[in-house]
Amino acid sequence: MKDILRTLNTCNMKNMMVIILFAAISFCSNSQSSAGNKANSAWLVSRNDSAMIISSRHYANFCASCHWDDLSWFSGRKWKFGFSEQDIYKSIEVGYSDFGMPGYADTLTADEMKNLSKYIYHKLELGKMEKEGLRQKEGFYVTENLNIRPDTVIKGLNVPWGMAFLPDGDMLVNEREGKMLRFRNGTLVTEIKGLPEIHADGQGGLMDIRLHPDYASNGWIYFAYTGRNARTPEGWNTSIMRARLKDNTLVEKQLLFEAIPSLTSNYHFGCKITFDGKGHLFFGVGERGTMMKVMDLTNDWGKIHRLNEDGSIPKDNPYVNTPGARPSIWSYGHRNPQGLVISPFDGILWESEHGPKGGDELNLIEPGKNYGWPEITFGINYNGKIISPDTAKAGMEQPVTYWIPSFAPCGMTFVTSDKYKNWKGNILMGSLRFRNLVRVELSGRKVKHQEVLLNNIGRMRNVEMSPDGSIYVAVESPGMIIKLIPVNK
Ligand code: HEC
Repeated sequence: MKDILRTLNTCNMKNMMVIILFAAISFCSNSQSSAGNKANSAWLVSRNDSAMIISSRHYANFCASCHWDDLSWFSGRKWKFGFSEQDIYKSIEVGYSDFGMPGYADTLTADEMKNLSKYIYHKLELGKMEKEGLRQKEGFYVTENLNIRPDTVIKGLNVPWGMAFLPDGDMLVNEREGKMLRFRNGTLVTEIKGLPEIHADGQGGLMDIRLHPDYASNGWIYFAYTGRNARTPEGWNTSIMRARLKDNTLVEKQLLFEAIPSLTSNYHFGCKITFDGKGHLFFGVGERGTMMKVMDLTNDWGKIHRLNEDGSIPKDNPYVNTPGARPSIWSYGHRNPQGLVISPFDGILWESEHGPKGGDELNLIEPGKNYGWPEITFGINYNGKIISPDTAKAGMEQPVTYWIPSFAPCGMTFVTSDKYKNWKGNILMGSLRFRNLVRVELSGRKVKHQEVLLNNIGRMRNVEMSPDGSIYVAVESPGMIIKLIPVNK
């Protein structure tokens, strides 16, 4: 409640209505202010902090040109005029005309200046925390409700993208550069042969890998990669294939899906795969930099797709009867989906995607819906320019939560096992940018609490539960697979 009052005090009238609305809906269930985790809650800015979004835009508009987009002008600074929210407020209000900084008292309201100083202060505090790393103690990480020892089980990888656990205990690891590797007890057994032609460039290459839920009886392995296709030969796009494994070679290969049209851009490909256990697979294809074209249903860009497990189109997909629409579309208006998982608890499909500068999203995916990119977004362009002034529009879905700054969520899984009792039912997401893991506690369809874990191990590309209920994380720079071992306090 104190938080709500503080927020209300610092908001102008227009924001106030928004805040009151959010407060009524979710602030109470979202209290995360026990002393121990205040730092975390402050820097994972979520939808409740609409004043912070406005502040990030003010910063981009009025300050970034001199103090740099990422505030790095301030970092490591010996502050001349003091480093507290009040000091920063004073600097903004009066400026330093002798040095070339204008005052903003005529441009911004007092509340806007207060919010802007709060935004700057918290972003800089976040930067400091990252540098310090997390409280690492005696070889394990102390987290809010579980101590974790990261055990490096595989070393020497480059960019491990997908992980799959074979029934005999071996692990298949997809390296983005186009290699599928088989490991036994952390040692390389062999490289799998018979892969299709893969165009590994930029963010593309060999991506996710997933065993069919009945793999033990049917042997199907599904994987995603960047391929070329005959229908639009210029460039490449995301493809989905399934195959069986015989003598460490892919056989009986079936190309299930090729995203069209192809493009020569080398970013935003998707592509995580998930099964619903009812005969369907889902996967996301990124927008490839096409922006507005994502709203057009005649292409596969920026969409979540649903197929039957044999690659055919389910008759009850939302756009099968829409003339011209790609029939595999399940939802659209996505930027770059890098996490996709069906909750084993209630069957809900969750997706995480990369926003531009700010505005990474956690979405709850429902058939036929439009998630708004780029007509609505909480992010701005990398150069500080506004992409869209709108964060909401009729007919477009709001994220369950979003993050500013962007942490580049990658990979996502539900913790299902009792080995991590206090985390059971939580979502874990890797962060490429902040090199850590984010734990998200849900309450039904809402986010209740978030915690950042395991700082500074490396860029976390994927996180999976193994069949024996252990959490594995694929890390790059340095490329490795780590297993999270719970340690008694
Ligand atoms: C035209 C360039 C310019 C713009 C625009 C500008 N500043 Fe500054 N700012 C400066 C300069 C120059 C200083 C003084 C640096 C010094 O004395 O070392 C300064 C100082 C500051 C300080 C004090 C730093 C300290 O060491 O105590 C803060 C805080 C600050 N600016 C915030 C902002 C914010 C917030 C905005 C946007 C609302 C902004 N500035 C816009 C140039 C600018």
